[in-house]
Amino acid sequence: MKIAIMGEIHPDGLQVFKGDNIKILHIENFEEESLISRLSDVDGIVIRTAKLSSKILSCCKKLKIVSRHGVGYDNVDSNFLTANNIMLTITGTSNAVSVAEHVMTMFLYLTKNIHLSDNLVKTGNFKKKSELPDFYELYRKKILILGFGRIGQQLAKRCLAFDMEVYIYDTFVSEDIIKQNNCIPINKDEGFKIADYISVHLPLNEETKNFINFNEFNLFKKNLIIVNTARGGIINEEALTDALINKKIKSAGLDVYTKEPPIEDQKLFKLDNVVLTPHNAALSLECRKRMSIEACQNVYFYLNNDKNFNLKNIIK
Ligand SMILES: NC(=O)c1ccc[n+]([C@@H]2O[C@H](COP(=O)([O-])OP(=O)(O)OC[C@H]3O[C@@H](n4cnc5c(N)ncnc54)[C@H](O)[C@@H]3O)[C@@H](O)[C@H]2O)c1
Repeated sequence: MKIAIMGEIHPDGLQVFKGDNIKILHIENFEEESLISRLSDVDGIVIRTAKLSSKILSCCKKLKIVSRHGVGYDNVDSNFLTANNIMLTITGTSNAVSVAEHVMTMFLYLTKNIHLSDNLVKTGNFKKKSELPDFYELYRKKILILGFGRIGQQLAKRCLAFDMEVYIYDTFVSEDIIKQNNCIPINKDEGFKIADYISVHLPLNEETKNFINFNEFNLFKKNLIIVNTARGGIINEEALTDALINKKIKSAGLDVYTKEPPIEDQKLFKLDNVVLTPHNAALSLECRKRMSIEACQNVYFYLNNDKNFNLKNIIK
């Protein structure tokens, strides 16, 4: 058996294959021609963020499973996999907590203006604290969570612990489930009007692309703090930059970008009401270990027809 590992993963995952007669192929060159030649005879692929187009996949003559290290799978041509009866899995139980904690970190940082306080002390201006702009509490504020899946649910629990009012917009989750989780179902437009905080946890697809655009920024409260750790492009970046510059909202946190790595030297990078991270919300050490093990187990259990294969991780 031959397994390709596309991109670096935590070594704990590779232990899953140890002892069996399995050849591991580590791939760091993601150019199309190179992938076409190297992947032609692999049985399984563990993949991080590199792209797997139908052109590459159609040359993988023995491929039976693609295992995403993570939960988004917009970098893989899933329609091709379905049409060709190739399994696609994600690491569904691994990363929700890390991403939810990342959102809370961004909320707290932006709400408390931590960067301004930090700078004050480090520049010897401790006594000037009364000159800092007002900062706030999360207590009793309204948060709108877009998408009540794995990450949205973990975030809701953490917001409830801060005594926030948690509103949920998710067209596929029943109102009963939302209420059972002590949250309040709401429609999108109403949610946009009342929210003090918004966090995006939707998949990126044709329906959710530009979900928040110029029009939406006109509906929001001026004190809104918005965070996107889902996928770039769900919030239109041009509209967001305009809203931050013209103070239509208070601030924003982004972990994901329309183009990754994002275009350098853009206006967004120069604003002090935005905090940016390099798509690493799920890259805490604990989470990297869990994702690596789960991604490798998905391949190993599936190829060995093992009863431990987690059916919930199947995408198509
Ligand atoms: N920044 C990171 O490192 C990182 C890590 C993990 C996941 N993600 C991204 O986070 C997002 C959420 O991940 P998840 O594991 O919670 O996914 P999930 O599939 O568990 O949850 C998504 C939720 O969105 C809802 N939804 C889908 N389309 C909708 C629509 N058009 N309108 C309203 N609701 C809709 C679904 O019903 C589901 O409950 C994904 O985009 C994923 O790629 C990012």
